Amino acid sequence: MHAQVGIIGAGPAGLLLGHLLHLKGIDSVIVENRSQDYVIDRVRAGVLEQGTVDLMIQMGVGARLQREGLRHEGLYISFSGRRHHIDLAELTGGKAITVYGQNEVVKDLIDARIATGRPVYFEAANVSVHDIDSPRPKIRFQKDGRNQEIACDFIAGCDGFHGICRPSIPEGSIKIYEREYPFGWLGILAEAAPSSEELVYTYHERGFALFSMRSPKITRLYFQVPPAEDIGNWSDDAIWDEMLIRMTTRDGWKPNTGRILQKGVTPMRSFVAEPMRYGRMFLAGDAAHIVPPTGAKGLNLAAADVMVLAQAFARFYQQNSTQLLDQYSDICLRRVWKAQRFSWWMTSTLHRFPGETEFDYRRQLADLDYLIGSRAAMTSLAENYVGLPMDVPLV
Ligand code: APR
Ligand code: PHB
Repeated sequence: MHAQVGIIGAGPAGLLLGHLLHLKGIDSVIVENRSQDYVIDRVRAGVLEQGTVDLMIQMGVGARLQREGLRHEGLYISFSGRRHHIDLAELTGGKAITVYGQNEVVKDLIDARIATGRPVYFEAANVSVHDIDSPRPKIRFQKDGRNQEIACDFIAGCDGFHGICRPSIPEGSIKIYEREYPFGWLGILAEAAPSSEELVYTYHERGFALFSMRSPKITRLYFQVPPAEDIGNWSDDAIWDEMLIRMTTRDGWKPNTGRILQKGVTPMRSFVAEPMRYGRMFLAGDAAHIVPPTGAKGLNLAAADVMVLAQAFARFYQQNSTQLLDQYSDICLRRVWKAQRFSWWMTSTLHRFPGETEFDYRRQLADLDYLIGSRAAMTSLAENYVGLPMDVPLV
């Protein structure tokens, strides 16, 4: 087999890239090690920036997103028992975020991929990359017990944080910047109508909590726990007790409770690999960087990366220029680091750190009090939250 671009991973990064390339007349093969159902059912993030929504619409894959996505023009920051509204749209000249599960994005993109008739292999075993610093890099894998090889012009490593692309780069050719946080999030999906139309980020003396949703019938909630917390230690009743303690405000607002459909604990880290390229292999999305989920940036950063990468491949095939490919890593990393800064700031401001002093606690409360009292501070949060401007034209 031959492909202009071999894409490893059918998450948001790989699928968006595949479709952007299709629209530009560039052929690709997508190779994914999990099954189609697994990729679609996996519960992940759910906040799309304005630019990500615009991208989906302009790519022609936004119809269901426009119908079913929940547009939010604001959010709440809650502390000391009070919720404070931040009007994202008013502070950013009309921008908003849209709540639409990552798994819904992935489902729409898989449907679009299949409709193009271009190849996507699920359940590919032992995926590996070869000769990535040569003009003819290769992807090898096994499908239904048969060995397959794809000779490519380029490889896009869109295989997430635990993928094989980044580790295939020789040590010394890539530098890692990393921070682990001394906590994780316990998250649930509950059969309960959201009791607020907008997200509520809570700073509580027992730790962070977040109220979110997936649909008019499904609530998504999180709270801060120790990083290696065993979900087996938490009965459904204990989870609800803790959610309600942290989230209930003095005016009596609290999440509606209901049957817990899914629960799990996720660790939190900040991670950047530089540069996002080795030879003819380009890393995009979680394969190159991870942000803690507090800023809701992971999926949106993946979308921004592949927009740049698709333009760069188009410039190569249409104008025989490697200029944008050569700039790919630098262009993406400027945005990645700003998202890292914002995600770190949201995380530090809203979580309790083990070993912190009473001074730290008071200072953090003052930070939040300053935020909700200053239009400048709220504007800074709002413009980062709805998403900084994209670096290249949408499609
Ligand atoms: N071979 C093939 N595919 C692989 C391999 C491998 N060795 N390892 C991982 N994959 C697949 C995963 O199964 C997954 O479907 O690569 C895909 C990577 O997708 P994501 O982890 O979703 O990463 P990405 O597409 O970069 O999306 C960015 O935003 O909300 C955040 O962290 C969240 O998933 C997220 C992301
Ligand atoms: C979610 O709905 O899953 C979600 C929302 C906001 C975040 C993180 C996760 O910051």
